[in-house]
Amino acid sequence: MSAAITVDHVTKRYRLYHERNQSVKAAIMRGRRARYDEFLALDDVSFEIREGIAFGLIGENGSGKSTMLKCMARILRTDAGSITTRGKLSALLELGAGFHPELSGRENVYLNGAILGLSRREIDQRFDAIVDFSGIEQFIDAPVKNYSSGMYVRLGFAVAINVDPEILLIDEVLAVGDQEFQNKCTDKIASMRREGRTIVVVSHALPSVRALCDEVALLEHGHLIRTGPAEDVIDHYLTEILSIDPAELGIPRRATGEIHLDGVEIIGADGRPRPEPTIGDAVTLRFHFTARERVVEPVFGMSFTSSDGVLVTGCNTMTSGIRMVVEPGPGHLDLEIPRLLVAPGRYHITGTVYDREHTTPIHEVGDLHAFHVAEGTLRTSGITSLGGTWRADA
Ligand SMILES: Nc1ncnc2c1ncn2[C@@H]1O[C@H](COP(=O)(O)OP(=O)(O)O)[C@@H](O)[C@H]1O
Ligand SMILES: [Mg+2]
Repeated sequence: MSAAITVDHVTKRYRLYHERNQSVKAAIMRGRRARYDEFLALDDVSFEIREGIAFGLIGENGSGKSTMLKCMARILRTDAGSITTRGKLSALLELGAGFHPELSGRENVYLNGAILGLSRREIDQRFDAIVDFSGIEQFIDAPVKNYSSGMYVRLGFAVAINVDPEILLIDEVLAVGDQEFQNKCTDKIASMRREGRTIVVVSHALPSVRALCDEVALLEHGHLIRTGPAEDVIDHYLTEILSIDPAELGIPRRATGEIHLDGVEIIGADGRPRPEPTIGDAVTLRFHFTARERVVEPVFGMSFTSSDGVLVTGCNTMTSGIRMVVEPGPGHLDLEIPRLLVAPGRYHITGTVYDREHTTPIHEVGDLHAFHVAEGTLRTSGITSLGGTWRADA
């Protein structure tokens, strides 16, 4: 797949000028040289954004995210390196960027459309859709200098998405709008992504970056720390840089994968496979797995769920006090069940392996195995049986 945006060894410096209020005489005395410090906002950054993906830029405040987006949009020139973009690009950058304060909303729509390369007729055709999406119809003929920040964002976003861009760049601005408008924008971004457009977003809302983005780049002090699949990069950022447990943000921890659960084999009392046991049978559930490396004291767990989704029971090796070391390669673990006391019907087995603290998943499979329990002489109602025997003393 080809790249929509190629960032090739990009360096961007800002000049911080001193002595702004110096006298004319002092300026003349010093000659034409202005005194300034250089601040390196982006330092030799390279990465690629594949066509049609949603790409996130994350990093702490001041890490260079907005600078990178402005370089992509060609609002800033890079000092070294280059950025190549393929396809029509539209950007929603800082609040109010691209809007002329004295002009009305309507005039700004035309101005922005023209900047993005649309003819007057093309804007005419899209005008209603733009105003409609923005939801600020009643203010469309008022000068935008009187707009609230939320109104700026509404109109800015409505223009940016309605000019039919192949690449859409969005800086954090969306966080300004109200929740309802944010949801509308998120839906729109998701649908543009489904249409195969390339989306680049800068956001602080990590759960939504994770939900929306396929890939993410992490910047720190102008350096590219990491780029790759969204969940990898976000987890790295949270755990290694912010020292936050992703679960605190409602982001499920990602399985680490040292052990892979391969499947479950049901074995009867005679030691032979018994794929469809009968209620009351003695069976062994053999969990087959493959370990990529040596794992000390992993916690294996399983649960039974009936076909209508009811959790019947669950157990794990930790509560049973089992400590084991798994060596690399294939292996198995047995759960011996003296009497299979679940009602006849279909069941799903969920399999899990966690680390020794039982906090980080190694592998989890919601539907590791499905099997049927056949009817036998033991009768029960409900989903389980106590396995009891009636005895009358007479
Ligand atoms: N116009 C500018 N002049 C000088 N320094 C700037 C300018 N714009 C941004 N910076 C500095 O560059 C760094 C990166 O800024 P920015 O790209 O806005 O970061 P982010 O969007 O990740 O918060 C910050 O330290 C910021 O203060
Ligand atoms: Mg920024």
